[in-house]
Amino acid sequence: MRVFEHKNELRDYLDLKRGEGQRIALVPTMGALHAGHLSLVLNAAKENDLTVVSIFVNPTQFDNKEDLAKYPSTFEQDLKLLEGTQKEVVVFAPSVEEMYAEEVTAGKFDFDGLEHQMEGKFRTGHFDGVGTIVKSLLDLVEADKAYFGEKDFQQLQIIKKLVEKQHIATEIIGCPILREPHGLAMSSRNERLSEESRKEAAFIYATITEAKSKFPEESAEKIKEWTENQFVNHPFLKLEYVEIADESTLRPVKKFEKGKDYRLFIAVFANDVRLIDNIALN
Ligand code: PAF
Repeated sequence: MRVFEHKNELRDYLDLKRGEGQRIALVPTMGALHAGHLSLVLNAAKENDLTVVSIFVNPTQFDNKEDLAKYPSTFEQDLKLLEGTQKEVVVFAPSVEEMYAEEVTAGKFDFDGLEHQMEGKFRTGHFDGVGTIVKSLLDLVEADKAYFGEKDFQQLQIIKKLVEKQHIATEIIGCPILREPHGLAMSSRNERLSEESRKEAAFIYATITEAKSKFPEESAEKIKEWTENQFVNHPFLKLEYVEIADESTLRPVKKFEKGKDYRLFIAVFANDVRLIDNIALN
């Protein structure tokens, strides 16, 4: 499997492959790969000839230095997992200097308000960082399609908006959330949880699944309040937010309307590990 560290080498290689008529996919990641990432790669490989997996922990999307420092890194294991897929994969693993040159700062983006909801409220500047790096990767790879997990549903909607507003030709494909046997959404951050904590954290999915069963009979307000209450006396999990929002605008909803799609979003701390999840209500 080829591993590129420099943009110009990757660009030359992809130009060659495109010249041979190959369809190219992009799966952007921050490494610490798990089955959720591999499912993105497998989806990409079904619809394309060559998949570029980028592995880059993007500093500008972290609002908290400690969180960035603690982000898991398992590069050698990541390569083994990708090799194990037996798909046509190339890895792009640049340094911070390669991606940002001198200035490690994010650009400013307007995602028509999607960026101000939920994660945007709690992680200042996060989506400017995501927009900056994803735009660089999309411009570099010029993929036919790029694949993102629905666990970061707000990010997925924002990247679709980025592509629309910046007239980027890559099609953005959202892929379903993969879950651990107890129900916890797969995430690189789960690496930082003990086996015991992972079991405890399964409470998040159990709760949002029960919340979903109340839709649409109960109001959004009631479902939100019920969900919040489940965490009040939890000995281990600390709720940051729960929101019920329209899938396309991500604006919080008060009253359900026919013909619209709604989703419940949640962020929870398990000790100092921040976990997010979401579930489609209809
Ligand atoms: O979802 C992620 O892992 C990151 O936000 C992404 C899309 C790779 C950008 O750094």
